[in-house]
Amino acid sequence: MFKNKCIVVGITGSIAAYKAIDLVSNLKKKGAEVHCVLTKAAQEFVTPLTLRTISQNPVITDLFSEPITWNVAHVGLAEKADLIMVVPATANIIGKVAVGIADDFLSTLIMASKAPLLFAPAMNHKMYQNPLVQRNIAFLQTHGSFFVGPASGALACGTKGQGRLIDTEIIMAQVEALLVPEKPLQGLKILITAGPTREPLDPVRFLSNYSSGKMGYALAKQAYLLGGNVFLISGPTNLKPFPGVHCQQIETALEMHEVVMEHFPDSQIVIKAAAVADFRPLENKTEKIKKGKEVPCLNLTGNPDILLELGKQKQGQTLVGFAAETEQPLVHAQRKVKEKNLDFIVLNDLTQPGAGFGTETNIVTFVFPDGRVEKLPKLSKMEVAQLILAEIIRQRSGLV
Ligand code: PMT
Repeated sequence: MFKNKCIVVGITGSIAAYKAIDLVSNLKKKGAEVHCVLTKAAQEFVTPLTLRTISQNPVITDLFSEPITWNVAHVGLAEKADLIMVVPATANIIGKVAVGIADDFLSTLIMASKAPLLFAPAMNHKMYQNPLVQRNIAFLQTHGSFFVGPASGALACGTKGQGRLIDTEIIMAQVEALLVPEKPLQGLKILITAGPTREPLDPVRFLSNYSSGKMGYALAKQAYLLGGNVFLISGPTNLKPFPGVHCQQIETALEMHEVVMEHFPDSQIVIKAAAVADFRPLENKTEKIKKGKEVPCLNLTGNPDILLELGKQKQGQTLVGFAAETEQPLVHAQRKVKEKNLDFIVLNDLTQPGAGFGTETNIVTFVFPDGRVEKLPKLSKMEVAQLILAEIIRQRSGLV
């Protein structure tokens, strides 16, 4: 996503300017070409030398300094930039851009560029609430600029309120979303399940499986980047959902069933990557089962098959399931895709290293209800997620 992308980071005069160093470092690590532009006030907080070292590019501080290349620097960079971000953005730069002032390098560059523009404001909370600042932000938003933050909390001026520069992680997520210009899932509610379920036996024990949630979380992130309004229903995992994805945590199959059924009617796309336990202990003991002479016998009962139920109720939704099988995988996947009334099923090849539970990669085959199969090579789970979504988009646009 970041490779070969030219990102301009404009830094303005706020104490939060030091956090821009971390942001530039993160952008570089992801493979972006980063150019930093410092306003005069920003140089009171951070030095061009620091940002030159981190960005590995010359830092621009002055509209009239000797150009490094033959072209007019602000025009050259304005044309080259895939994204211009202002981090931190003061009330001053927001106001200047809103009224069309171009009196230094950063404001002139912004004026000369058609690249997406992202502001991450940071200022005193009373300044942020000032109706003039709010009016300028609203005006810029209606004219296509993007804003991320500010966060609430302790401010450098000793007060508390909304005005802190938002976390780098959230800014990075917003950048990633802006670097994907096509938003084919815009306006669509996408329901994704991920991870295992836990079926309690007693207060200290449960039945579960090896699902890490990686596949489902990758799908949620990619669907969000493509513009979807993503609801991730997740069993217990160690993962953090991508910023912007709505996530609801559940534990048991029964809880997942309830939440999924609640979201289903107004969802347009449902992808069930969760490994839902088919059975649960008949009884969830209130006290810990004690060790005795006899080994206790476990009585199980069936959980609802959520996907089967969705297939019966579906009314125009695109419904995609996963299949994890250890014997005759294709036969079972072909049966499930029809039985559960799916648009297609993603079959994991559990016999191969690098596929299925817990891995960073997956080896999958798309199985369609008309008998077609499409085998994919070993890919990262992010790439598999992209291809699943591409197939859904293709089907929904009637291109099959
Ligand atoms: O989480 P990771 O570590 O990244 O691993 C990914 C994965 C292997 C868990 C995932 O890709 C996967 O295969 N998930 C589905 C596993 C599974 O439960 O397969 P199944 O063949 O038992 O179920 C078929 C489909 O029915 C699945 O979409 C499942 O979500 C759904 N199901 C199953 C049982 C049930 N009671 N309700 C359901 O909705």
